[in-house]
Amino acid sequence: MPVPFLDLKAQYASIKREIDPAIQAVVDSCAFASGPFVEKFEKAFAEYCGAKHCIGVGNGTSALELILRAYGIGRGDEVITVANSFFASAEAISLANATPILVDCNEDDALIDTTKIEQAITKKTKAIIPVHLYGQCADMDTVIAIAKKHSLIVIEDACQAHGSLYKGKKAGLPAETLAKAGSMAHAGAFSFYPGKNLGAYGEGGAVTTNDEAIAKKIRMLRDHGMPEKYKHAIVGKNERMDGIQGAVLSVKLPHLDAWNNARRKNAALYRELLTDNPNVKLFTAHADRSSNYHLFVMRVKNRDVVQEKLKQQGISTGIHYPIPIHLQEAYAGIWKKGDFPVAENMAGEILSLPMFPELTEEQIRDVCAVL
Ligand SMILES: Cc1ncc(COP(=O)(O)O)c(C=O)c1O
Repeated sequence: MPVPFLDLKAQYASIKREIDPAIQAVVDSCAFASGPFVEKFEKAFAEYCGAKHCIGVGNGTSALELILRAYGIGRGDEVITVANSFFASAEAISLANATPILVDCNEDDALIDTTKIEQAITKKTKAIIPVHLYGQCADMDTVIAIAKKHSLIVIEDACQAHGSLYKGKKAGLPAETLAKAGSMAHAGAFSFYPGKNLGAYGEGGAVTTNDEAIAKKIRMLRDHGMPEKYKHAIVGKNERMDGIQGAVLSVKLPHLDAWNNARRKNAALYRELLTDNPNVKLFTAHADRSSNYHLFVMRVKNRDVVQEKLKQQGISTGIHYPIPIHLQEAYAGIWKKGDFPVAENMAGEILSLPMFPELTEEQIRDVCAVL
């Protein structure tokens, strides 16, 4: 049976009756750039994440860049992030004119190795960007403790972690004490790229923060540095969110928890069926965190052969990501092969299996049978 990696058409079909009039309402009102549809979504998403403020922007990369700029981080400053993330985690640091400093990831969960952070801190370090990779939250308690000790800003790269939870759950605390991605640090950055758990119908991103001054500054930065029309207090950018994206995301947000739960159920079945497969290594799903399973990634030694065999059976997979950040051409001459061995070895073995809410039990069983 063919199994796609992702099925955006299936999701659209399930919400078409809500989406189509929502888009039509934007067209009817001509509120295309920023405006009431974006504001409505910002309010709802701030509440969803448990953050005081949400600022809609053009994409996740800009969300990270604008947070850095709002904190005054730029030329001469260093910002720490992890070597095995999507390139944009480091790229945003470069775009803010600061210097990305990479650390390796953990073997067991692919998240930032917090034991490597302190040795990467220098007098120039201003911030740490832990990445909630594949949807599982990084070890935020340790990151925040290190940051407090060294007076650093912590920015969550939550671009893959809409609705991911951290701590609280197992301790039997009431739901409101669960820490959600994007609410745990100074600020969080989200991407609403179409394939994300909460995906726009185009590009989109957001910043979440409890810091009112930073929220205000990011609102200015995303709109040519304007506190009011045609008054430019600072040099900003054009990173406004589209009205259509605000409307689409407002329709989708109430479905997010159900979609994430469907992904969790799919992941549980993958885990059950793959646990005894001697060729496959699964990443640790920490008991005190609840991933949104943006991706279901596993390790397999002869990855390229396995991927090809799956393809021959009509099963689409992905690699997130085949080349770690430090070995990308864009950063040639800064790092060398061997600098982050865990990330490097992992890049040659990781394989992302089909994962989306509408994936059926039969499809998962087929994928696992072929594996
Ligand atoms: C971890 C991570 N950081 C940053 C980004 C950048 O987001 P965008 O593509 O919306 O700019 C992404 C998007 O894929 C991501 O996965």
